[in-house]
Amino acid sequence: MNNILVTGGCGFIGANFIRYVFEETDFSGRIINVDKLTYAGNPESLADLAEKFGDRYVLVREDIVDRGAMGRAMDDHAVDAIAHFAAESHVDRSIVSPDDFVQTNIIGTFVLLQLARERADRIGLFHHVSTDEVFGSLGETGLFMEDTPYQPNSPYSASKASSDHLARAYHHTYGLPVTMSNCSNNYGPYQFPEKLIPLMILNALEGKPLPVYGDGKNVRDWLYVTDHCAAIWTIMQQGQKGRTYNVGGRNEMQNIRVVEVICDLLDELAGPLAGKASRRALITYVKDRPGHDRRYAIDCTRIEQELGWTPAESFETGIRKTIQWYLDNPVWIDHVRSGTYQSWIDSHYGG
Ligand code: NAD
Ligand code: TYD
Repeated sequence: MNNILVTGGCGFIGANFIRYVFEETDFSGRIINVDKLTYAGNPESLADLAEKFGDRYVLVREDIVDRGAMGRAMDDHAVDAIAHFAAESHVDRSIVSPDDFVQTNIIGTFVLLQLARERADRIGLFHHVSTDEVFGSLGETGLFMEDTPYQPNSPYSASKASSDHLARAYHHTYGLPVTMSNCSNNYGPYQFPEKLIPLMILNALEGKPLPVYGDGKNVRDWLYVTDHCAAIWTIMQQGQKGRTYNVGGRNEMQNIRVVEVICDLLDELAGPLAGKASRRALITYVKDRPGHDRRYAIDCTRIEQELGWTPAESFETGIRKTIQWYLDNPVWIDHVRSGTYQSWIDSHYGG
């Protein structure tokens, strides 16, 4: 791999992945980051790397659905591997407005697979990044295995399931060198504050209500984002083509417990809120999400045993680092929330 096309590299996981590859591995080639820069894409997350790594890092502002632009990006930069992160990623948005999810997640993935197939002589790897949500919802017991039948419940997970099927089919039918990962919920630096953990951190910091859906007992398996990036890199290096790997943190927690931990850590790290003994007083139960999946939990034995990957962070260590990062980065938060970075994008890329 000399020239890796990373899609969605200005998003939460993509930005962490590019950072991980440049700073934590011996990769000496170039990364071409293709990103449409939607509300969730923020080039500021990589501004220091862009400076430090010069022409080893290129940002191309394009839509993955645009076949001509994607073909040019692959050819102009002699791309020989693809790590595909770009997606609409928020379940609540997919419930309100599913159109972009179908376009980007399904059609966009199809476009990239097709273009990679047309360049089979050069492109030796297509890694498709996906989610455990494609498997549906678990009861009190059980874990998602790689061969668990797909049963996606939200427009988001249905669109990701479709893209997974296309990626798998392109390997099976055309021999495209595809690897795939299905990962549990990520948290860590640079996550857009619409997802549970950053939303709760910022609201709790400012003394705003902490909206917990339903009874707060839905369970997610939390993985620190750098562990996910390490897993993807490991699969890209050693994974068997045509194979899927489940990635998880063995950190199952009820949402209410996650929120309580955030409240307690913020009380410790940022000091108590005026007039409140504990930030837990901000917890507010609100109407449940329609079709809300009850429990996700991953069995990641395959990647552990076959590729030797294990998560480095526990929830206790990862959430402390994450909260500290949000406390240390008020400018990033301010720009993301105020949309200031959008004017930066417009001035650099012409709106
Ligand atoms: P994100 O929403 O933070 O970032 C998505 C990025 O994709 C943004 O930079 C956005 O500008 C870009 N993008 C969106 N539409 C595009 C398009 N049409 N063309 C080009 N770029 C486009 O998402 P994330 O949380 O970083 O997730 C990345 C990937 O990981 C997704 O495929 C998601 O399904 C998967 N995933 C996420 C999680 C999680 O917990 N966040 C867990 C498992 C898997
Ligand atoms: P989220 O971060 O949106 O990830 P996903 O839906 O992909 O798992 O939500 C994580 C869990 O937190 C999910 O069970 C929904 C719940 N949640 C809340 O209770 N309140 C909120 O404000 C948000 C955004 C999520």
